[in-house]
Amino acid sequence: MIGLTDEQRNSYEENGYLLVSGLIPEAVAEAAEAAMWRCIGADPNDPETWNVSKNHQVFDSPELVACYTLEFIRAAETLAGEEGFKPPAKAYAINVFPTDAEWTRPGPHIDHAIKDHGHKTFPRAFRVATMTFLNDVPPYGGGTVVWPGGHRQLEALAKSDPETYEMMYDLNRAWDKIDLDDPVELTPKRGDVLFYHYLCPHAGSKNVSDRPRLAMNMKW
Ligand SMILES: [Fe+2]
Repeated sequence: MIGLTDEQRNSYEENGYLLVSGLIPEAVAEAAEAAMWRCIGADPNDPETWNVSKNHQVFDSPELVACYTLEFIRAAETLAGEEGFKPPAKAYAINVFPTDAEWTRPGPHIDHAIKDHGHKTFPRAFRVATMTFLNDVPPYGGGTVVWPGGHRQLEALAKSDPETYEMMYDLNRAWDKIDLDDPVELTPKRGDVLFYHYLCPHAGSKNVSDRPRLAMNMKW
């Protein structure tokens, strides 16, 4: 098993995210993509069967959870700086179906920032988040958009005024208080995994390609 390189770990620290290409073995990723199509009840060759209302769904398909290999778990633990992560029993699908609308740059958000959920900013609301991509994503094809270094800006802001930004909900509304760098639209391949920090500003984006974007989210 090959662990993450120093360069990859440094990149995660600096940018607040890391896309690891080909982390999922090809045969596992291929089986997972086929399973996702079955789970969503859609035929890859028949757009009439693509149900755009079903973006977020939970499945217990063994082929999907097989993506969470030991190597995957170890990488998540390394980046989070904690051990003992368990592989999930279910897959949380976030699929983005094609739209006829025009592609527009999305605004950022952080996860775990729903008011009623009451997540605090410190200690961290979760340790690390992941997106596992089950098919190739072209530009404007629904790839995740990330703001490099934004996690550090948010952390500095939160520490500058712990009272105001005690809750993730309030930090997620403070975008006018920081000056984010230009965002990066990721265009991952099947079997790639995006790891992102709990303060990484990110967004889903519209898929104006002709294929659904198939992926799973998992957080520890
Ligand atoms: Fe998110």
